[in-house]
Amino acid sequence: MVIVKTMAKTTTLLIFGASGDLTSRLLLPALGQLLKRDPDRQVTLRGAGTDPWSARRWGDAVRASFASADAADMVDRLGETTYTQADITDVAELKKLLADIHGPLVMYFAVPPAVTMAACTALQDVPLPQDTVFALEKPFGGNEDSAKTLNATLRALVPENKIFRVDHFLGRPTLLNILGVRFANRLVEPIWSADHVQSVLVRYDESLALEGRARYYDKAGALVDMIQSHLLQVLAVLAMEEPVDLDEVDLRDAKSAALRATHIWEDNPVRASRRARYTAGTIDGRPLPSYVDEEGVDPSLDTETLAEIVCEVRTSRWTGVPFTLRSGKALGEKKAQIVVTLRPVRHIPEGLSGKPADGGVLRIGLSPDRIELELNVNGGDDPFALRREVLSTKLGSSTLLAYTEVLSQVLDGDVALSVRADAAEECWRIIEPVLDAWKRGDVPLEEYAAGSDGPAEWATSTV
Ligand code: BG6
Repeated sequence: MVIVKTMAKTTTLLIFGASGDLTSRLLLPALGQLLKRDPDRQVTLRGAGTDPWSARRWGDAVRASFASADAADMVDRLGETTYTQADITDVAELKKLLADIHGPLVMYFAVPPAVTMAACTALQDVPLPQDTVFALEKPFGGNEDSAKTLNATLRALVPENKIFRVDHFLGRPTLLNILGVRFANRLVEPIWSADHVQSVLVRYDESLALEGRARYYDKAGALVDMIQSHLLQVLAVLAMEEPVDLDEVDLRDAKSAALRATHIWEDNPVRASRRARYTAGTIDGRPLPSYVDEEGVDPSLDTETLAEIVCEVRTSRWTGVPFTLRSGKALGEKKAQIVVTLRPVRHIPEGLSGKPADGGVLRIGLSPDRIELELNVNGGDDPFALRREVLSTKLGSSTLLAYTEVLSQVLDGDVALSVRADAAEECWRIIEPVLDAWKRGDVPLEEYAAGSDGPAEWATSTV
């Protein structure tokens, strides 16, 4: 018998925005790691960007990024890689870029949403190679309407299962952790509803500040940068009904249904949201200027660096349970966690002292990944006095970068963990009342010192 070994097809990865920060900081290191993990994977790398980079400058950028992921030796696996200075919103330039590319092709849009939109419009007049996949960075559009327009434009180019709306939170082991914890435990699965859960908090406090990203961040702010995308995806996984299968249809149907049911608490964006901006301070001994004094920031935009909203998932499972989503920058400590607080039990025997405020707390750490169960226990010197104990363990963490997982799914054409068109639109629909209220000035822009936990009042009150 003759065994014919089929060679894996080489995929061309064409990155738009190749001279940008996202490419060098996240995409290229992920590509290096991926090539290292998968010895059979073959990728031809092409870059296109607005900067007039020479071949040498591009080569240096690729090498440095691969080295940052401990994959310097993978540069040779790429063979020849090219960089082209191009305006990707121009039909003629796009035609030139794609002229000698044969599928499979992944076009990765690491560019602002307006450029993605203009490029996708231009691509309607450009013949695409067979097996072309679109990978898009968030935010997908700038509001619900523009997200709908972008989705319609994309659908005219390729089918939905060839479109990756990348959300790297969905590439983290955390997401899979939530699935296992929720659905594989007798202790958790039956209590996952308003009957037992008092409140849910998804918190992503970062000690990182602007990090030179004013051009993007100053127009986005914490609400769009983190809550509209990542944290609503986490909410969807927490709140969804059990999917039959974790594939692209069932998982994404379940998430979308949860998002469709999600609304701002009491439909009152003024009471159910708050925002703040950091002033000068110190983080880990590093002095930090006020946000408004950071390079490239336009103070008149009133951009928030800390945002909090409260949502309700209006289903029979969740109605009445506040889901608080909060994220901010330049905070004293990184706190990335999901906190599920259980309702107090209905009755405690007379002889036990100390009435607990809740029936226990389940915490899932998003980074580092850990799980904690805070329980009411008694025993010790006063055997009938209740106190709290925490059972805590680290969860299996991946050695891969979240973007490596994302890129691997994109190159393999597995869209299960990418954001489907309707979900992207829903996430805008959910936050738009808050954006409008903030624009009208109905919610004050508070302040907190960099390195603090946020405005002092936030620690003791809820929205
Ligand atoms: C990005 C945001 O999508 O996620 C950043 O644009 C944020 O502002 C980052 O810092 C947080 O994710 P991670 O995985 O880098 O902690």
